[in-house]
Amino acid sequence: MNIYWVKRETADVPVNDDWLHPSEKEVYSTFRFPKKQSDWKLGRWTAKCALSHLLAPKYADLNLNDISITNTKDGAPEAFCNDSLLPISISLSHSHSLGFCVVCDHPIQLGCDLELMESRSDLFINDYFNPTERAIIRKGSAQHPKLWATLLWSAKESTLKALKTGLKIDTRLINIQEVSNGNDHWNPFKAFSSEQEAGFYGFWKQDQRFVYTIVSNEEDVQLIAIV
Ligand SMILES: CC(C)(COP(=O)(O)OP(=O)(O)OC[C@H]1O[C@@H](n2cnc3c(N)ncnc32)[C@H](O)[C@@H]1OP(=O)(O)O)[C@@H](O)C(=O)NCCC(=O)NCCS
Repeated sequence: MNIYWVKRETADVPVNDDWLHPSEKEVYSTFRFPKKQSDWKLGRWTAKCALSHLLAPKYADLNLNDISITNTKDGAPEAFCNDSLLPISISLSHSHSLGFCVVCDHPIQLGCDLELMESRSDLFINDYFNPTERAIIRKGSAQHPKLWATLLWSAKESTLKALKTGLKIDTRLINIQEVSNGNDHWNPFKAFSSEQEAGFYGFWKQDQRFVYTIVSNEEDVQLIAIV
């Protein structure tokens, strides 16, 4: 199964709003603060870059404003084309002028996250991670002080998105395990939700000051970049 991933920057987002669906323009008009407006637009732009690639074989002459991405009441994104819900999976993240989105043309459990690598306090680590994760962070941090806590945090957020719960559940109920050590490519890890008794398969990657993670319930996946 293919999971397509795409990364975009705020500078890539068109200045005009023609590419937004009317329902998206309505949502956008409710945001008061420039940062929220710009983050949200970056997320939509990144998601539409991913979706237009996924949909191109099936929908000829598709305009970006035929696509819309809405949120369920829990906040999870859903994608529509010509106002029909698409039977696909999508997840997105936006942070520090970067947008990251993953899509799959099957309805799987899918989550992605992007985090700036930064120091995390002992209080944060003790509050949000379980003992086995804290041991992984301690070991890795000796060599890469900012990487490991950020990586495990991002892995949890991706898993919470795949579960569609977001941060409503205790993050310690997600266990990040078997984290492979980094190279420039996608490195595997596993995640287990003790509440749902469900296992997930993840990948992580460091790129400059950021960590990217992707989590799904499918073991056999190919990660394909959309450039
Ligand atoms: C979901 C959550 C892990 C997001 O992480 P984050 O680091 O703050 O932000 P990111 O940029 O990585 O991700 C934001 C995206 O996550 C997605 N998301 C939000 N809630 C989600 C959920 N329950 N399940 C899956 N994806 C979710 C959305 O697409 C959102 O972007 P958008 O609002 O522009 O569509 C976390 O912040 C959270 O749980 N937030 C609470 C959401 C909430 O309470 N929503 C209720 C009403 S909207």
